[in-house]
Amino acid sequence: MIPGLVRRLEGKVALITGGASGIGECTARLLHRHGAKVVIADVQEHLARTICDDLGRPSDDCSFVHCDVTNESHVRDAVDEAVSRFGKLDIMFNNAGILGPVKQSILENGKSDFEKVLRVNATGVFLGIKHAARVMVPARRGSIVNTASVCAVLSGLGPHAYTCSKHAIIGLTKNAAVELGKFGVRVNCVSPYLIKTRMTEEFFPEGAPSGPTVHSNLKGFEVELEDVAEAVAYLGGDESKFVSGINLIVDGGFSNVNTSLSIFN
Ligand SMILES: NC(=O)c1ccc[n+]([C@@H]2O[C@H](COP(=O)([O-])OP(=O)(O)OC[C@H]3O[C@@H](n4cnc5c(N)ncnc54)[C@H](O)[C@@H]3O)[C@@H](O)[C@H]2O)c1
Repeated sequence: MIPGLVRRLEGKVALITGGASGIGECTARLLHRHGAKVVIADVQEHLARTICDDLGRPSDDCSFVHCDVTNESHVRDAVDEAVSRFGKLDIMFNNAGILGPVKQSILENGKSDFEKVLRVNATGVFLGIKHAARVMVPARRGSIVNTASVCAVLSGLGPHAYTCSKHAIIGLTKNAAVELGKFGVRVNCVSPYLIKTRMTEEFFPEGAPSGPTVHSNLKGFEVELEDVAEAVAYLGGDESKFVSGINLIVDGGFSNVNTSLSIFN
């Protein structure tokens, strides 16, 4: 345990899709540091098992389940693994996502690529919400957090399919929050700005910092994976017990800036 750390998620059980890498990995590590038991659900078995081995020692409080979020029975089994191994599910982090091919013109975008991105990013989140609700509704508690993106609130930043899928997540989050709120289950999403991960490394030249904060209006800080993980820890934990249906944008004010106003500064 880290001296002085308040373990805000002691006793909670969290399932993290896409937990083998990037934002998901960082969140798995942070939630675990805060006392949560963690199930990593991902297609990258080797990476996930390495993280689990790292987190699971000396106690057995991290588990891996092979899960392709586009496959409903995988998602069902991942939720059931959390419940059977740790007794319940408190936090569902639907975070697995892909960027898809980066092609400027819609004429170059293929239908199958478009549908694949939608399947992982939108259908995957739908299945995660559905199966988390299956166990959270009877328990009359739970927090579901989905990963959207600044591409869900600003146009022209990402590929068409990616942007479309992230807009879908905002709609799904709000709709599910309305329904599941009646049963004490909260649903929110986080929208990170561009951060260097496996998914985005093509956008960062060798040695570049993790995020181009030059575009945000908040100066003096670099965006870090921990900034997103902290937002998820907040939304997943009891500190946000009266917060549901929101999109928590973690972008240093980037999407709040109308760059045309810079002529007045
Ligand atoms: N990095 C960024 O700049 C950024 C910005 C905004 C939103 N996001 C979102 O954050 C989430 C995490 O992305 P990241 O940047 O950490 O990328 P990443 O590539 O490091 O991690 C994505 C993880 O999702 C997993 N995954 C992919 N397809 C899957 C599937 N079908 N089933 C299960 N797991 C699958 C991958 O194996 C990987 O572990 C994504 O939803 C992404 O869209 C990222």
